[in-house]
Amino acid sequence: MDSIHIQGGVALQGKVLIQGSKNAALPVLAATLLTNETSFIRGCPRIADVYRMVSLLKSLGCRVSWEDGGIRVRPVCVCEGEMQGEAITGMRSSLCLLGAVLGRCGEIVMEHPGGCVIGERPIDLHLAALREMGVVFSEGNGKLRAVSPEGIHGARIRLPMASVGATENILLAAVLAEGETLVEGAAREPEVTALCRYLSDCGAVIEGIGTGLLRVEGRCGEALRGADFAVPADRIVAGTYLFGCAATGGNVLLERAPCDQMEAVLHVAEQMGSRCDGTREGIYVQSPRRPRLPARLRTAPYPGFPTDLQSMALAAMTMGEGSCLIEETIFENRFRVVEPLIRMGADIEILDPGRVRVRGVSRLNGREVEARELRGGAALVLAGLMAEGQTRVRGVDFINRGYENICKDLRELGARIVSV
Ligand code: EPZ
Repeated sequence: MDSIHIQGGVALQGKVLIQGSKNAALPVLAATLLTNETSFIRGCPRIADVYRMVSLLKSLGCRVSWEDGGIRVRPVCVCEGEMQGEAITGMRSSLCLLGAVLGRCGEIVMEHPGGCVIGERPIDLHLAALREMGVVFSEGNGKLRAVSPEGIHGARIRLPMASVGATENILLAAVLAEGETLVEGAAREPEVTALCRYLSDCGAVIEGIGTGLLRVEGRCGEALRGADFAVPADRIVAGTYLFGCAATGGNVLLERAPCDQMEAVLHVAEQMGSRCDGTREGIYVQSPRRPRLPARLRTAPYPGFPTDLQSMALAAMTMGEGSCLIEETIFENRFRVVEPLIRMGADIEILDPGRVRVRGVSRLNGREVEARELRGGAALVLAGLMAEGQTRVRGVDFINRGYENICKDLRELGARIVSV
């Protein structure tokens, strides 16, 4: 397996263009199944999960091609043949095909979707919501079978937890359903908003976009039209490089970074002493030589601080001044990165499975470490940028799930980093 080699000690300087958002692109690509016309989805990142989604769409009867600037999708004979999503496995985001295929075809057979190992990641909320919409589930041979004997109908759904994936699945199932669907307690993440905007561009009627209360007017089986849609830039990738800047005392321009989606992140960076200015080009960040640690950092659903950036913030704080209590409230396994960081010299105390205390140290040492999930892997890369000597990060496949080319991006910012 490849590894990333980093020679630490360089402050990030310069500008980097932020890739399109993985977590926005995937459900939008799945949503093309609800149309009967061509869509052009601009700015999709070239990463493994997107390639996998493209091949799943092909197996579901779509003509799909990568073109300059985006992916063209034409759903030709969706719901014909033996596809029924048999190939759906191995990535969490394939789960949004559940709502899309059910919405379009009324049935699906799929394997349990995989994804990063950051917690149990149950799908009970998805199943309960879809049941309320007339879907009947059965399991056998490790597969999940879903049918809607009387067709999918609208429902009033109250989500006990603002799940991003469950909100997306409900939307995807609701758009072509019969009648109105109300989602109370919907996730407000920008990726849900991007999906709503694409669906609206295709003719869906969705009210309350960006709020916790969504209303969808079902189209009783009438397919949507296609649309030309631009995926927003990836706020998590932008946040990764922002914390890279804060960690190394850098000075960077994050081109295209979605400033309006990153308020909580910018607030933490500012507490750490960085100056962040949103400009027309993106976000300009200037960081002091050593970050200051805020007393407390707590992850929360949007618009709170994203769980996906918690590991990178933690890594950036390891060499700061002061101490910070970090509370993870979304996923239970998000502190797996603590052990390799401690081996590099960080002072981090695990208080309980959801809380750690980090105390700034004056030096980290380069080591050979292993990424065990996507965001933790990116955090180890940031630690390598700060460390003295060479750091080797193994488990690069995890990192490549979310970053088109993290080494190239960081090299553009002056880092001494290569993938070997
Ligand atoms: C999405 O995952 C993202 N993935 C995650 O990003 C992100 O960390 C997460 O939202 C939170 O922002 C994609 O968009 C593909 P959830 P998702 O359902 O939809 C619990 C990355 O690194 N829950 O909002 O799976 C769950 O356990 C990835 O890019 C249930 O209990 O997250 C968690 O505690 C990793 N039952 C909370 O809800 C369910 O049926 C939020 O999860 C569903 C979720």
